[in-house]
Amino acid sequence: MQYNIINVKATKEYNICIGRGVLAAIGELVAPVLGKCRLAVLTDSNVDALYGSAMMEHLAAAGYDACKFVIPAGEASKCADNLLAFLNFLAGEQLTRSDAIIAFGGGVVGDLGGLSASLYLRGVKYIQVPTTLLAAVDSSVGGKTAIDIPAGKNLVGSFYQPSLVCCDTVLMDTLPAEIYRDGCAEVIKYGMILDAALYDTLHTLPFDREAVVARCVEIKRDVVQQDEFDNGVRGLLNFGHTFGHAIEKLSNFGVSHGEAVAKGMVIAARVAPLCGLCDVADELEALLVQYGFDTSCPYAANEIYDALLSDKKRRGGNISVVLPRAVGDCILYDMPVEDLKELLQKVI
Ligand code: GLY
Repeated sequence: MQYNIINVKATKEYNICIGRGVLAAIGELVAPVLGKCRLAVLTDSNVDALYGSAMMEHLAAAGYDACKFVIPAGEASKCADNLLAFLNFLAGEQLTRSDAIIAFGGGVVGDLGGLSASLYLRGVKYIQVPTTLLAAVDSSVGGKTAIDIPAGKNLVGSFYQPSLVCCDTVLMDTLPAEIYRDGCAEVIKYGMILDAALYDTLHTLPFDREAVVARCVEIKRDVVQQDEFDNGVRGLLNFGHTFGHAIEKLSNFGVSHGEAVAKGMVIAARVAPLCGLCDVADELEALLVQYGFDTSCPYAANEIYDALLSDKKRRGGNISVVLPRAVGDCILYDMPVEDLKELLQKVI
């Protein structure tokens, strides 16, 4: 079978295999990376119902002894209780340092699985098998792992690269439309921050999924290779996220990540001209509406401001916001948090 293989050189070097039917080849893809070992598959209730048996059968056919741990689907599962429950499961199954974890699901499973891998026995290998568009283009690549705590999303985590990413784009055929659309917000983000040509292709729907996922992963790979630990250019990947995370938090996660990022990108694009940068807000908003996003912000400027004060991008009294300079060209723009309050009041 022909897959698109993208190589990442970070603290760990690994491949990302993208293509239709990758899941059926999981055993042969995993074998050269892990050798003979036991595997613990972490997945969620939705993915388990659709593809759990297939995953276990493909692993067994390749000679792997694998156990499985299923968490309820949804962002609420990315919590300390499930982290501890999974770590206890790994210990109960007597997984050793030469064994590995497979995170089989969307961003919640990937982040929780990756964090568990970085903690269990002070670190075991793990494989990302993303099942959503969002996880495929973003969270499964680059080694950010996390859980949410009451003070905010992703506030507890680690940088811990996977040993392999296997992305079967067929699995996205069964995604509910709104979950698929969540990933489209991230795809549009990649076009806006770094690739005007990609952005242009996104005006024609449906886009070529395999080609678009591969291009987004290449962009992310290039960014991660320059700044694995998120001290500089990696911050560009947060276009729309500073405001988006605030919206998610204010809605108690009732607004999905993609929907919140879409709203956040429009807010950022409206702030840009007030900072002397270009005005692409109407253009961006029209594209997001074409994808079915509601781009309006349901919260007042003061509420967004208060909610984003716990943002990880805040350093002392300053905050770094990603703003467009043109389609395909965003920059990190540092400003005192107080200034952002005023700007938000002008655009929301
Ligand atoms: N999701 C943003 C990053 O990986 O840096």
